Amino acid sequence: MLEHVPVFPGDPILTVNEAFRRDTRPFKVNLSIGVYLDEEGNVPVMQSVHIVERRIAAEARPRPYLPMEGLAAMRQVTGELLFGSDSQVMAEGRVATVQTVGSSGALRLAAEFIAVWLPGYKAAVSSPTWENHRAIFNACGVEVVQYPYYDPATKALAFDDMLQGLEHLPQCTAVVLHACCHNPTGVDLNESQWDAVIDLLVRRKLLPIIDFAYQGYGRGIEEDAYAVRRLADSGLTFMVANSFSKNMSVYGERAGALSVVLEPACVDNVLGQMQSLVRRLWSNPPAHAAYIVADILTSEDLSALWRKEVNAMRSRILGARQLLFSHLGSSEKYRYLLNQVGMFSYTGLRLDQVEQLKEQYGIYLVPSGRICVASLNAANMPYVAEALKSVDN
Ligand code: LMR
Repeated sequence: MLEHVPVFPGDPILTVNEAFRRDTRPFKVNLSIGVYLDEEGNVPVMQSVHIVERRIAAEARPRPYLPMEGLAAMRQVTGELLFGSDSQVMAEGRVATVQTVGSSGALRLAAEFIAVWLPGYKAAVSSPTWENHRAIFNACGVEVVQYPYYDPATKALAFDDMLQGLEHLPQCTAVVLHACCHNPTGVDLNESQWDAVIDLLVRRKLLPIIDFAYQGYGRGIEEDAYAVRRLADSGLTFMVANSFSKNMSVYGERAGALSVVLEPACVDNVLGQMQSLVRRLWSNPPAHAAYIVADILTSEDLSALWRKEVNAMRSRILGARQLLFSHLGSSEKYRYLLNQVGMFSYTGLRLDQVEQLKEQYGIYLVPSGRICVASLNAANMPYVAEALKSVDN
């Protein structure tokens, strides 16, 4: 009955991560998946998270089914974090936030919503983009097109080409943009470039979908929200898919949300149709994830502690970038490590070089040549730098 089912060729990120786990070589290094590791090479349990988890356990807090749209307190604090504590769109009731199963779930929900309620819309993704964007939209029957973003020659933003590409998209297009720490390139827009892009999006009435998985990892928690807040001021309808996986280090809890900013008169209906989609996808989201996010962000003390911890993670990544650059002889060839922002750098390594790193050195990258800088530490850095130099000639 099932002989026709073909082999799964693997996921470009998660399958590499699994191959790393199976590798028994003691000196192996995992630069594939986007996970922040501390100096000891562990996924940190943040103090702020640990405190609320102990409280939840001590209270023996029940885990009923949450509403389809998620925990109210979690949705509220998520909106405040994204749009700002003094946000006008929040005050005017112009935001519909749904708690989702990570930001992958948020993107899937956005794609499902578009497929049903905006038929004929295409999704435009940056070239390159996170490998799963295309797959998620395609899975919902939404055609995916690309707009220029990255220039391999300069290892920087192809800004004029990007504007041109956006200018020529069909009007019924959802444009997926990375708020900060672009995945996979680490190449971000500066504020004046964002202003120009947002003016264009508004003028052309395109539908921005902001993928915001790394808030706090770029320039700062508030600074990284620049594009989201500028869009909120613009009056345009748009969506934000955000994640707490990275900035709360709760990858396995699947903490995320989809927020739609829209006309106040449409909020209830859009939220209702989102509930209907959620019921068919995951029914209702995880309670533990909601408790962690809500408990931290509703407490002044815990919020302050959390912000301090996020800032420390960002500084560690910056330090890792500088250290790798210096281990690579501070050569101009590698200056991109200092210009690119966030967890990822795009090395420009070819597939055969990526393979060589894996076979010869036990160093795992995703096939595109993206490295997760946040997995580097003082102990593995010299080894990684030597290996990179040896294959990159
Ligand atoms: C990544 O890009 O490595 C992360 O966002 C994890 C994932 O789900 O792909």
